[in-house]
Amino acid sequence: MVVLRGGGADHDRTAAVRKAAGEFFARQRLRNIARVHNRLGDTDRAEVGVVHLVQCECNWLQALEGDIDTSHFGFLHTGSVQPDDVPPDSLMRWTVVNRAPEYHMNDTSYGTMYCAYRPAEPGQTYWRFANFLFPFWTQTPQGPFDRVNTRAWVPMDDTHTMFVSLSWRGSPTSMRPLKNGQMVPGSRLGFDYLPNTTDWYGRWRLTQNPSNDWMIDRVAQRTESYTGIPSIHGQDQGVTESMGPITDHAFENLGPSDIMIARTRRRLLRAARAFAKDGTVPPGVDEPGIYTAVRSGDFVTDAKIAWRDAYEMQMRAAVRPLAQAAE
Ligand SMILES: [Fe+2]
Repeated sequence: MVVLRGGGADHDRTAAVRKAAGEFFARQRLRNIARVHNRLGDTDRAEVGVVHLVQCECNWLQALEGDIDTSHFGFLHTGSVQPDDVPPDSLMRWTVVNRAPEYHMNDTSYGTMYCAYRPAEPGQTYWRFANFLFPFWTQTPQGPFDRVNTRAWVPMDDTHTMFVSLSWRGSPTSMRPLKNGQMVPGSRLGFDYLPNTTDWYGRWRLTQNPSNDWMIDRVAQRTESYTGIPSIHGQDQGVTESMGPITDHAFENLGPSDIMIARTRRRLLRAARAFAKDGTVPPGVDEPGIYTAVRSGDFVTDAKIAWRDAYEMQMRAAVRPLAQAAE
């Protein structure tokens, strides 16, 4: 059974809701992935050229929540970077000038959407938009709208998750060099795997894992990077797995960066209750076409533009081959 970590109220954690959540994911995870795959034409499958899988040793929602808290980018991944280290035309500059953004968010037809925002140059706003899409997909805010970077956090059981990353072949890289020509220390992309075994948990395991503290280098942590963990995904996985297989959220003191996570938990609980009541299937499971109208990314606009208007402007300008082929 898959555990949904609830929003605080005792009734959110009843056996009935947990049972419904478990049934929901057991029945619908493969159904959703199969329909997403079938929705893609042959050309589009070729374009979805980069697929990565990684097994995570924690609850699926705990792992997913890192993708819907964008403020962590400014310290976990770039905490050692100072504003003067960043070229003036790099958007990363704003994430290190101000590491505590403010937020907007909404429920949407496919799940939840949010953006982090902070001032850029005078009269401008720097936006970072991202999404949660039922049943377990995310789109992260790092990079332009002219790419699709979609990630699934598929429950294997209560304490193991399979991460699946899909991105377009040739998508622009989201990280640029610093002024000194070097990449941010510890920002290596990609994955190093242990050899596969025939065990149920024997595939897509990283060499960076809890048994070796995700290969943390304490000298690097003191001198050049915030974590000392030598890859972006290793840093993400280190903070989510080190909370334990299933974190007890009851002791947390929530801050502004948790607001999208709280809203998404409530949206998931409502979907689990509806499924328990009458079998209502959440959006996206049977109609993955709704995903094609959703994007994420970061950009700067005039500060007078409202957040949803800024998103729609980016969507109109973005490359969207499925929608454009249908027109
Ligand atoms: Fe991250």
